[in-house]
Amino acid sequence: MLQPEIEKLLNEQIVAELYSSNLYLNMAAWFSERSLTGYAHWYYTQYQEEVDHAMIFFGYLAQAGGKPVIGAIDEPDSEWPDVKAVLAKGLAHEQYVTSLIYKIVDAATEAKDYKTVEFLKWFVNEQVEEEDNASTNLGRYEAIGTDGAGLHALDAELGARVYTQTTQIAGYQL
Ligand code: FEO
Repeated sequence: MLQPEIEKLLNEQIVAELYSSNLYLNMAAWFSERSLTGYAHWYYTQYQEEVDHAMIFFGYLAQAGGKPVIGAIDEPDSEWPDVKAVLAKGLAHEQYVTSLIYKIVDAATEAKDYKTVEFLKWFVNEQVEEEDNASTNLGRYEAIGTDGAGLHALDAELGARVYTQTTQIAGYQL
């Protein structure tokens, strides 16, 4: 069984992850519209990963004796003034998601819900990678400045990102 306050936080995180997936899908569309197809692919892949994150929480809730309930998902931004603004939003958003994960860790620890604390360790580590990816995307873009050739090289590199479903969700059966 899950304590009601922990169940509520985990369900809110499903919504937060689905919000993330929609935000990144909008970013993919924004880049696609500007023919930056590598960036568009990278953010489309990120969208797929966020859906996985939501499903990991969904699966854990069901397995741990809770009930997954999908709440309303806010409309994410879809317009940005320039590439840098999109990348900066990506970093700020991941930092926000990290704060949400830490909030659940704090609540689960306080509630002595050690199985949830253990479950969340994967997300604590995942957020290190998520923030690093977003920070690297922003930093590399800033490094090329106004070099158009550099942007196209970066775009091509980002287009090679490969989506791999996480082992966390791959091993889960309802
Ligand atoms: Fe689900 Fe980007 O963290």
